Amino acid sequence: MRVTVRLLAALWLAELLIIGAFTVAQVTEERARLHDDLERRASLLAEGLKEAVEPSVRRGSPAAVARVLRKFGRPDRRIAVYDAFAGLIATAPVPAAGRPASTAQGAAPARPAPPTPPEVAEAITSEGVRKGLRTADGQTTYVYATALPGSDRPLGAVVVELDASYLEAAEWAVWRYNILRFLALALGLGVITLLVVQLTVTKPMAELAEWAKQLRAGRPARVPAIGDASLFGPIATEVSGLARNLYRARAAAEQEAALRLRGEAIWTEERLKQFAQSQFGGQPLYVVSNREPLSHVWRGGKVLALMPASGVVSAIDPVMRACGGVWIGHGSGDADRETADEHGRLGLPPEDPRYSLRRVWLTEQEEAGYYYGFANEGLWPLCHVVHARPLFRPTDWAAYRDVNAKFAEALLEEMEGSEAPMVLIQDYHFALLPALVKAQRPDARVAIFWHIPWANFEAFGICPWHEEILLGMLGADLIGFHTQSHCNNFLESAERALEARIDWEHFTVVRGRHVTAVKPFPISVAPTFVEDPPTTSRAELCARLGVNAEFLGVGVERVDYTKGLPERFLALQRFFELHPEYRERLVFVQLGAPSRSRIPRYQELAAQVEATVEAVNRAVGTRGWKPILYLPAHHDRHDIWPFYRHADFCMVTSLHDGMNLVAKEYVSVRDDGDGVLILSRFTGAARELRDDALLVNPYDVDATARAILDAVEMPVEERRARMRRMHQHVREHNVYRWAGLLLGELARIPVEPGVRRPVGGPADVLA
Ligand code: G6P
Repeated sequence: MRVTVRLLAALWLAELLIIGAFTVAQVTEERARLHDDLERRASLLAEGLKEAVEPSVRRGSPAAVARVLRKFGRPDRRIAVYDAFAGLIATAPVPAAGRPASTAQGAAPARPAPPTPPEVAEAITSEGVRKGLRTADGQTTYVYATALPGSDRPLGAVVVELDASYLEAAEWAVWRYNILRFLALALGLGVITLLVVQLTVTKPMAELAEWAKQLRAGRPARVPAIGDASLFGPIATEVSGLARNLYRARAAAEQEAALRLRGEAIWTEERLKQFAQSQFGGQPLYVVSNREPLSHVWRGGKVLALMPASGVVSAIDPVMRACGGVWIGHGSGDADRETADEHGRLGLPPEDPRYSLRRVWLTEQEEAGYYYGFANEGLWPLCHVVHARPLFRPTDWAAYRDVNAKFAEALLEEMEGSEAPMVLIQDYHFALLPALVKAQRPDARVAIFWHIPWANFEAFGICPWHEEILLGMLGADLIGFHTQSHCNNFLESAERALEARIDWEHFTVVRGRHVTAVKPFPISVAPTFVEDPPTTSRAELCARLGVNAEFLGVGVERVDYTKGLPERFLALQRFFELHPEYRERLVFVQLGAPSRSRIPRYQELAAQVEATVEAVNRAVGTRGWKPILYLPAHHDRHDIWPFYRHADFCMVTSLHDGMNLVAKEYVSVRDDGDGVLILSRFTGAARELRDDALLVNPYDVDATARAILDAVEMPVEERRARMRRMHQHVREHNVYRWAGLLLGELARIPVEPGVRRPVGGPADVLA
C-alpha cells in the first residue's frame, strides 16, 4: 500500500508541476494578448481624437472640446483632454445605463472628477505617449496619454482610460480551468494506477507468496503465471527457482524415505544424480541427438517453446535434469536463434536450468540430405520391417557424413578442457559420430544408443554404405539397443560385413585394440509423466471434445507409417461391425503429431490416415456419433495427460518399433490402477509388458478388433490387476534405472588416458 501511495504522490506531483507550468505560460500569453488589445483600442481612440480636439484646444475653447468628446462617452472608458499644465479641459460624458451619451461633462449625474493620472504630465513633459496598466481604488485600468503637439511646446494631452478589470477575470478563468483539469486527471491517474498496481504487482505477488507458502507446507502447487515478465521476470524466476528446488529436494527426500521404509530399491532422479556424481565425479555428461529437447517457434508473432514429440526427448530429458551436462542437438525451430546465445547455448529447463543445450545450425541443404534423406528415407525404413523401400542417394550420404562431422566439431568444442568425458550419442542420425569423436578424444567414454530396431543382415546389408555405418558405430565403447535380438542382429551384421572378432559370450566386437560392448538396455519413461498433472476430469475432457461416450479409447502418435494407424482404424471399424451394440457408446480419440512432412511417403500417409478415419466414420458412424475423433496437431504433454488418464484403453499398434514409449507413458500415468493397454507384439515394449497388455498383431485386423472387445469387456478386477502389475513394472524399470545401468556400464570401460592432440578435423577422419 505504501508503494501505491508513493507512486501516486510522485505521479500527482509530476502532474502538478506540468499543469502548473502550462498554466503559467497560458496566463502570460493571455495577458499579453489582452494587453495588446487594450493598447490597440486605446491608441486608436486617443490618436484619432488628438486631431479632432487639437484646433479647439489651440483656440482655448473647452466647450468645443466637450462637444467633440460628447459622442465618445461609454461606461467602460474614460476620455479626457488636458491643457498644457495638466489641467482638465473636458471629459467624455459617461452615460447612465440605457441612455446614449448626448451631453458633455455634467450631462450624467455629477460625479467628482477623478484625479489626473500621472501619465498626463509625463506625456506633456516628454512630448510623447505614456501608457500602461494602473490600479487605483481596487480598479485596474489601462491608461493611454498622448501629448497634443503645439508649435514650440505641447498644447496639452488626450487621455483614454479603458476598464481592464476583466484581465484578472480572464487569468483567473485559465487557472480555474486548469485546476479542474488537474483534479480530473489526478482522479483518473489514481484509479488507473490502483488498477495497474493491483493487477501487475499486488495480485501476482500475492499469488507468488501463496504459491511459495504452499510449497513450504509441502503441498505441490502449479507455478502462477507471471504476466509482466519485464517487471517481475528476474525476481519471479529466482523465487520460483528457489521454491522449486526446495520442493524438489523435499519431495526427493520424502520419496527416498518412503522407498527405504518400504524396502524398495527403485531408481529415482535423486538416486541417479548421486550415482552420476559417484561414477563420473561432477564431470558433465555429453549427449548428442538430432532432435533438441526444446525448440522455439514463432506462432502469431510470439515465440512458443515446444517439447517435440520424440521418444528420445521424452527419455533423455529427465536423465539430463538429474545428471546435468551438455545436450547437443539440431536447432530446428524457426525462433531457435533468437532464444539462444551467440554460441547457440541456453539453459534448460528455462525456468530452472539444470543442463545446457548447445544448438547446432544446419543449412536447408544439409537438413534435406542428412535428416530427411539418409536418416529418414534410408536408415529409418531400412531398420523397420514395414515393407517401405529405403532410398539411398549418394548426395544424402555425403550430407549425412558432413553433418556427422559438424556435430563432432561442436561436441569436441564443448568437451574441451574436460577429462575423460562421458558421451552418450543418440540414434540413427549419428552412426558415424562415435568413430569421429574417439579418433580425436580416445580418453572419452563413448556410447551410442540406437532407439530403433536393427534389422538382420539380409535386410541391413542392402545399404550401400553398411560397412561405413558399422565402422562408425564401432568407434564407440558401448552400443546399446532395446532388446537382445537387436544386439544379435547388429553383432551378426558386424561379423558378416567386417573383419572383426565377435565375442558371442560377452557380446563384444573386437577390432585391433578396440573393444565395443553391445548390450540391451530397454529404455523407459520417468515415473512422473508431468510434474503437475492437470485436474481435468473425464467429464470435462469429453465436454471439451464434444463427445458423449461410455467408453473412451486413445492413441498418441507421430503420424508415421511404422505406427500402424490405418490398420488400427480398420480394426476399430471391424469391431463396430461385429459388435454394433457398442456403436454410439465408444469413441476412439487419435492424437496425431505431424512428422517429417516434407517426405512424400509421410505426406501420402497423412492423407491416407485422414481418408481412413473418414471412411470408417462414414461406414459405421451414425448421425450424431463419430467412432473416431482424429486430432492432428502437436500436443503438449499437459494436454496428453487427461487422455491417458481417462481412456479406458490405449492402442499401440506399431508395425515395428524399437521400444514405443507411448505404451509406457500410458501405463505410468495410470497410478489409479485402471485402463487396458492394447499393444503390438512388434514393439520392444511388448517384451516387458507381454503378460498384462493385450498383445496384438496389427496386420491381423480381426484379432485387433477382438482385443478391443476384450479391453472393454474385461472384468474390472482383472483389468485393475493387470494395470497394477504393468504400472509397478514401469515404475521400477524407469528411465533413471536405464540411465544408471547404461552409464554404469560405460563408466566401467577402460579408456586410453590422456587427450590425443587433434591432427585435423573430424572430416579428415572420414576422408
Ligand atoms: C523416433 C526416433 C527419434 C526421433 C523421433 C521423432 O523415436 O528414434 O530419434 O526423435 O522418432 O522423430 P523426429 O524425426 O521428429 O525427430
